[in-house]
Amino acid sequence: MSRLPNRRIVLGVAGGIAAYKAADLVRRLRDRDFEVRVVMTAAAREFVAPLTFQALSSNPVHCALLDEQAEAGMGHIELARWADLVLVAPATANVLARLACGFADDLLTTVCLATTAPLVLAPAMNRQMWQASATRANVRLLLDRGVAMLGPGEGDQACGDVGPGRMLEPEEIAARTAVRFGGGALEGVEVLVTAGPTREALDPVRFLTNHSTGKMGYAVAAAAEEEGARVSLVSGPTTLPAPPGIDRIEVTSAEEMYAEVMARAARCDIFIAAAAVADYRPARCAEQKIKKGDGPAALDLVRTADIVAGVAAMGDRPFTVGFAAETESLEAHAKDKLRRKGLDMIAANRVGLPDRGFASERNALTVLWGDGGSRELGLAPKAELARSLIGLVAERYRAEHPA
Ligand code: PMT
Repeated sequence: MSRLPNRRIVLGVAGGIAAYKAADLVRRLRDRDFEVRVVMTAAAREFVAPLTFQALSSNPVHCALLDEQAEAGMGHIELARWADLVLVAPATANVLARLACGFADDLLTTVCLATTAPLVLAPAMNRQMWQASATRANVRLLLDRGVAMLGPGEGDQACGDVGPGRMLEPEEIAARTAVRFGGGALEGVEVLVTAGPTREALDPVRFLTNHSTGKMGYAVAAAAEEEGARVSLVSGPTTLPAPPGIDRIEVTSAEEMYAEVMARAARCDIFIAAAAVADYRPARCAEQKIKKGDGPAALDLVRTADIVAGVAAMGDRPFTVGFAAETESLEAHAKDKLRRKGLDMIAANRVGLPDRGFASERNALTVLWGDGGSRELGLAPKAELARSLIGLVAERYRAEHPA
């Protein structure tokens, strides 16, 4: 984890249910050696007590604009000048609207208006409120003025809805904030990731594929971006939205994925193959829908090109990481793939179990690398696991290519 001394963040906490996550965010920013001063709105204080933030930040919490005692300590203008960055998390629909209009009717909006430091917002609200045309217009206006947005993410919401509007997890906000100070472990590094399944056409209406949803590969791409890498993601068909800040190239078949990866591999520093690429494709794709006959049918299959082995065999190759999806003898098969495909590192996962691997929200990885090193990454949400994996990749990559 990157540590950044002498960087000062004013963290604005607005009144939403995600305010409780802001407490964890303070801890994670402090872990990265940021000094944090918290400004709370009146509504935020209905969700979390200022004392929590005072204890976590080791600084007094700033609440009121017109409090003589507080102004005598560190007034709103001094606070605005003190900050190297102002981060508002959660940024509610109300705060977005008030910032867009330039209000200065409480301490948080006044500090935002008075500061010359970059302003970063982590929105959090109900999905309908996020999608409302007034909020869309406010977000556009703020982006046009150079305000940065972290998220929101998608998923289950406190109100029971599912959709966009969840505040990003504190670790992701902390990592992406650190990147703004040039502190990511993969700052300036080009990373290419594959994700999702491929589809191998049999005829115009049928194809061979697998259960991959792309979740693991997308999480790996997002984790690399959080650490400051420029990330390209070659993705098979999924229902996932393109992760913010990442260049996504959509493909369907193994052949298309091979072509898109090979067109980019020479320019990247790290290649991570998380896609579940078909090993075989039909020898030919019928022009018309295949008609059923009376007897059994047989498929004539041919091998696809191995993408990760192709990248590993290149002359000036990137640091190359493969995945291994195994139903048994995980480590033995993974070791064999690491050697046979000429990889620098391999992340092996059990598949065929309901709580991990394909389509699950969680996974566990056994990571092996060239000189006999290994690390077990236990069962965890894919986003969390991806961050641990990227940490290991960055460590190994930096050992070979000191910054
Ligand atoms: O997408 P999710 O639903 O989140 O599921 C995640 C996952 C289980 C798909 C993922 O964690 C995973 O294991 N991805 C690799 C799946 C796979 O194809 O494993 P494999 O053991 O068959 O292949 C080994 C390596 O060779 C992989 O890096 C694969 O991308 C690569 N390969 C395979 C065939 C091929 N033609 N080209 C390749 O590059």
